[in-house]
Amino acid sequence: MSNVPELIWRNGKVRPWEEATVHVTAETAMRAVNVFEGLRGYRQPDGRLAVVRLDAHLERLETSAALMHIPHPGLAAELRDGIVQLLAALAPQGDVYVRPSVYVDTGRYTADRTEMTTGTIVTCFPAPARPVEPMRCIVSSRQRIADDALPTAAKTGAAYSGFRLARLEALEKGADEAILLNQHGNVAETGGAAVFAVRHGRISTPPLTDGILPSITRATVLALAERLGIPAAEQSLTPGDLHGADEVFVTGTLDEVRIVGQVDGYRPRHDDHPIGSALREEYLAMCTGTRPALDASFLEVLA
Ligand SMILES: Cc1ncc(COP(=O)(O)O)c(C=O)c1O
Repeated sequence: MSNVPELIWRNGKVRPWEEATVHVTAETAMRAVNVFEGLRGYRQPDGRLAVVRLDAHLERLETSAALMHIPHPGLAAELRDGIVQLLAALAPQGDVYVRPSVYVDTGRYTADRTEMTTGTIVTCFPAPARPVEPMRCIVSSRQRIADDALPTAAKTGAAYSGFRLARLEALEKGADEAILLNQHGNVAETGGAAVFAVRHGRISTPPLTDGILPSITRATVLALAERLGIPAAEQSLTPGDLHGADEVFVTGTLDEVRIVGQVDGYRPRHDDHPIGSALREEYLAMCTGTRPALDASFLEVLA
């Protein structure tokens, strides 16, 4: 196997990657009954590795598990240990992308722990290269699955078949990413990031009640905007608000703060993206420890 790490953490232990298998009929394989998180670790000026908002990610993982009725007592503490153990075993040189997950192995349509088995994993990959070009987006013809169909606050594999189809549509249309709307026709999110529009010096992003994952980066960027004195609002956005924006950018653990260069071929009025670029620079400086963090829990040194 190529491009996979040698090691994975699973059910309490670091093991060879190849050993972490489930049966093809496992609930996680058949019905995507799992929840997961994606975290980034950044090398700090002193060479140590710090993970961004570890507590918030573990808390969201517990919320996701509760919303999806995947009972696994002690989940956050177990996966925190798993992350620490895997990073110690892999001793990665550069920045990393870490993914903890809990999944259902056996037990069909039950949430009774005596009738089911669950498992935990943590994977760690080198962080992907940071694209420099602004991203080209389309507004997808596919709707973001609504909260009354599948809890939007749960980061579950089950939601990502929909995001996959939206991304494939974007690629087919020559774009990089799809922005999905909610059932009311308002902007929801991409399959990996929250969406922001800038107009007259003010940033706006859809409220969580518009049916989006509570993005941790989104919350950080709203706080950063306050620190930088940039007015910000959580308000519903239409596709037209994106088409006619001065700037558009997205925020997510993987995308960090990423500038959007066009939406459905409409280019933002301010093609030097001053506000998005300032937030991007501030965010990256904070993650890499070259500017003071928002608060003591923003970075946690793990290796
Ligand atoms: C559907 C979706 N929306 C938004 C985000 C951004 O969330 P975060 O900033 O917590 O990474 C993600 C990534 O986790 C996601 O998968």
